[in-house]
Amino acid sequence: MTHDPYVIDEMISAKSIAARIEDLAKTIQTEFKDTDKLVVVGLLRGSFVFIADLVRELDLPVEVDFLEASSYGDGMESSREVRILKDLRGQIEGRDVLVVEDIVDTGHTLHQVIDMLNTRHPRKLKSIALLDKPSRREVDMRADWTGFEIPDEFVVGYGIDYAQRNRNLPFIGKVRFT
Ligand code: PRP
Repeated sequence: MTHDPYVIDEMISAKSIAARIEDLAKTIQTEFKDTDKLVVVGLLRGSFVFIADLVRELDLPVEVDFLEASSYGDGMESSREVRILKDLRGQIEGRDVLVVEDIVDTGHTLHQVIDMLNTRHPRKLKSIALLDKPSRREVDMRADWTGFEIPDEFVVGYGIDYAQRNRNLPFIGKVRFT
């Protein structure tokens, strides 16, 4: 945790995010048009704003569940282990599942969460991330759908924190140290 002074410059406006979510929701609806129930799984904590807006755009029978994962480095980034801190409440065997991430950075979290959920034999498992930083990738992983590809900037807002603050900003901002 740091207390260096910083300012936040808007990078993606609330309006742009809303417009992109409308498009993404249409794609998801097409993909899951025949589902009897779509289990939408938010990865805590960063996805809580995105999942709230996304599910309200989905005209599908939806169940919302949450998973909390945390990655622990031991100095070797590529060997990062992702641990489940809070598991799903419901079963996903035979179900249609959509995993919702705020950001894919090194890719370890999404990669390991998808692997773990696949062992539970869902009928169909797809993933969506609001943001993607491909330049930071350490494992070959990409969400099935991405809202915005961004450069390697320190971003906050719309669920994403800096030292647990700024999750409540309605836009995605770039942190600039002053
Ligand atoms: C962030 C983010 C993703 C993950 C992406 O979570 O929400 O889940 O890191 O990083 P990766 O692609 O390098 O694995 P964080 O652990 O900061 O927790 P939070 O969602 O509670 O803020």
